Amino acid sequence: MKFTFYGHSCFAIETGGKKLLFDPFISGNELAAGIVDVNAIEADYILLSHGHADHVADVVSIAQRTGAKVIAAYEVIGWAEKNGLKNVHPMNFGSANFEFGKLHFVPAAHSSALPDGSYGGNPGGFLVHAPEKKFYYSGDTCLTMDMKLIPMYAKLDFAILPVGGNFTMDAEDAVMAANFIECDKVVGVHFDTFGYIKIDHDVSKEKFRTAGKELILPKIGETIDL
Ligand code: NI
Ligand code: MN
Repeated sequence: MKFTFYGHSCFAIETGGKKLLFDPFISGNELAAGIVDVNAIEADYILLSHGHADHVADVVSIAQRTGAKVIAAYEVIGWAEKNGLKNVHPMNFGSANFEFGKLHFVPAAHSSALPDGSYGGNPGGFLVHAPEKKFYYSGDTCLTMDMKLIPMYAKLDFAILPVGGNFTMDAEDAVMAANFIECDKVVGVHFDTFGYIKIDHDVSKEKFRTAGKELILPKIGETIDL
């Protein structure tokens, strides 16, 4: 599966010929400036974990340009519709089938307000059961016992977890999360973008290594095979 990192918690995964874009936040990310062209990002689906601006900032422009279907919590979709988007699929915690496979929207322990201050519903994460591979993106969250349900649903090939701390799990918590979800290959996101979440890459990777796991910290603009 092709994974492309656009900075912060924004990434795309290609599966079965479909491009799934997660949590688009490019235009407000200084680290992505000059590296990622927000007007060149392709998407068939855009999945939003919650309503915070650092996860939804560019969804309206990308969805309007590409015609991608936006999948998110019911309240986040309400905001998207207010901003002119029509190709949408509201969810709450549960599962639904899409042409890329079955999708679970699962709880995250965080908060969710939209950029206009309106209520964003519950924040969540996504478990994608694509024919090719199965992966979990937790969204912004602390470590939760609910993560122990994930391996009951699927044997994961990889997971995408926040490792920046302060607003979410740090690398130490993410190692515990990786144990909970029974996954040895983790891509770290939600790090370095702001002062509060700057991390030491070597120290973070070492925490995973000593637990017998791999932490990948992708470079912005980088595409890797997972
Ligand atoms: Ni957030
Ligand atoms: Mn965030």
